Amino acid sequence: MRVNNIVLRKIFDSRGEPTLEVALAANSGIIGTAQVPSGKSRGTGEANVVSFEHAVRSAKAILPAMRRTNFSSPKAFDRFLMARDGTADKRRLGGNFMIGCSLAFARAMAAEKKQELWELVEECYFPEKSAASRTERPMIFSNLINGGAHAATNLAVQEYMAVAKPVGTPSETIARVIALYREVGNALQRRTGFKRLPLGDEGGYAVDFPDNGAPLEILARSIKKLRFEKIFSIAIDSAASEFFRKGKYDFEKKRLSAPELAEIYASYVRRAPLLMSVEDPCAESDAKGFGIVRARLGETWIVGDDLTVTNAARVARYLDDGCITGVIVKPNQIGTLSETCDAIAAAQKRGARVIVSHRSGETGDVSIIHIAKACSADAVKIGAPARERLLKFNEYIRIFS
Ligand code: PGA
Ligand code: ZN
Repeated sequence: MRVNNIVLRKIFDSRGEPTLEVALAANSGIIGTAQVPSGKSRGTGEANVVSFEHAVRSAKAILPAMRRTNFSSPKAFDRFLMARDGTADKRRLGGNFMIGCSLAFARAMAAEKKQELWELVEECYFPEKSAASRTERPMIFSNLINGGAHAATNLAVQEYMAVAKPVGTPSETIARVIALYREVGNALQRRTGFKRLPLGDEGGYAVDFPDNGAPLEILARSIKKLRFEKIFSIAIDSAASEFFRKGKYDFEKKRLSAPELAEIYASYVRRAPLLMSVEDPCAESDAKGFGIVRARLGETWIVGDDLTVTNAARVARYLDDGCITGVIVKPNQIGTLSETCDAIAAAQKRGARVIVSHRSGETGDVSIIHIAKACSADAVKIGAPARERLLKFNEYIRIFS
């Protein structure tokens, strides 16, 4: 496929911050577009984010060679982008510019081939997946209570998620997530006396709690009240890099070591036995801490996000070291669709869990749902069923029904 133009637009994410929309025009006249999300609790190993003006210069710089090349696949296109950039952290072209181009190209090629994006991604990157995995649907990690960097509250832990198992139709699954979101809202309204509850960046409720374990009990009680115990679990994302200072965790007015923090997580599992997954329990620079938490928690998924940053080499290393049992996958952390799929493959090869995730600053782009379907991910992590996040829930219904 030949590409003859790149159009960049400065659009705005769900926080009202500027971000990029990339439109690639193929010679056939077909246009593929992608919108780039943005993180707030970013890993230091993530691909560089450049300004709109820098992205415009990047587009000008690659356009002549792009026009001269006939790309046979998204892989070939990404190889071109990576060669033009030539840096490990994507600082020359910009990781946000590159992931926008990479996904826009894949969308254009899928349109040319009259395919859904997920079909092209599956064919190109996951051709050998099993027949059984083709019919499975991912669980939904839905962030119902927001803390940390995503909310102005006293919670150090960033996310308290309901985990919906894919029971019944996609619509039925999501109707249950919405019912639970409302039930948690009712419980919090009774507790706080607020008529309207403040919301955090990902649409979850943003209120103060007596301690960081209390939201787990609210979620567990609401799940029980709706009799959802068999079809819902609970997950948290500590995003612990955000409260790690000088080798210790600043947590509830104490300075904790990793083993002390691991004891706190163990107490959470006792308080809310539905807790099945802990993301970034320790800081990105404290892989050893992840291993300590993993050893302490046994069966609970220990998931890397800031630790692994969708980087296949890091995913392989930390899985081989036994620090984690699952990974978060965010295409804009690494900067191309191909490298995103490499990270997924590195995790799946090692039998680890894969959770394809949004960012706290989101757009209308729904390609993460397609990537999750293409690779048969264990889960998608898409925020509360509210506001701009509903676009991902609805795309889940569309492509999994
Ligand atoms: P971010 O956080 O999108 O603000 O980086 C999400 C997460 O930590 O999972
Ligand atoms: Zn995270």
